[in-house]
Amino acid sequence: MNKRNQDRVQWIYSSENNAELSERYDEWAKDYDADLSEVFGWIAPKTASSYLAKYVHPHSVVLDAGAGTGLVGLALAEHGFENLTAMDLSEGMLREARNKNVYKELDQMVLGEPLSYATDSFDAVISVGVMTLGHAGPDSFDELLRITKPLGYIVFTIRTDVYLKNGFKEKQEAMECEKLWEVVDVSDDFQPLPIGEPEVLHQVWVYRVINK
Ligand SMILES: C[S@@+](CC[C@H](N)C(=O)[O-])C[C@H]1O[C@@H](n2cnc3c(N)ncnc32)[C@H](O)[C@@H]1O
Repeated sequence: MNKRNQDRVQWIYSSENNAELSERYDEWAKDYDADLSEVFGWIAPKTASSYLAKYVHPHSVVLDAGAGTGLVGLALAEHGFENLTAMDLSEGMLREARNKNVYKELDQMVLGEPLSYATDSFDAVISVGVMTLGHAGPDSFDELLRITKPLGYIVFTIRTDVYLKNGFKEKQEAMECEKLWEVVDVSDDFQPLPIGEPEVLHQVWVYRVINK
């Protein structure tokens, strides 16, 4: 991997708070698509979107949480989805997402804090590459659950090591025990960054909201 890009990823992960993370993504926004596709071979947006499309009708109202530059929106548009909202911490990333012309609405908000969407706003939520170190934590699921309709879907990718070590496993299982959601599908481990970081493994999780 080229040194500049390797440094860029470490620089993102070394952010000490959301303000710094947001500033760094703002700065990366213009180069993000080229870096992710050419240097890393980022395939998670397409992989996760295929899972969502298996369970959710394309007329559905879908939130892309941590939409970044809109790669998930583009992948969902290929499946025929038109009613998409993008939400992200970084204004710079959202500016790039707006240029993709696939989202009806774009909102700057922070996962892990209260979201200003009404309860039961969305048929489905998708979040790719966001439930990770120094980004959104397991508590983000509380608000995602609130804004998703009963019997709606929450689909996300997560690094297999982060799932085990950073409180996600415990949180996901606690929400199952409380009968707030149920797992309907989990992918095999896959390499989301096969060119740049082949050692990193993700899974796609698909949950259905069952009660609130
Ligand atoms: C690795 S990028 C993934 C972007 C896009 N989903 C994709 O698959 O290309 C992570 C994105 O999550 C956003 N992000 C990180 N922490 C967040 C938080 N707590 N709330 C909302 N967005 C966040 C970043 O601004 C960035 O756009």
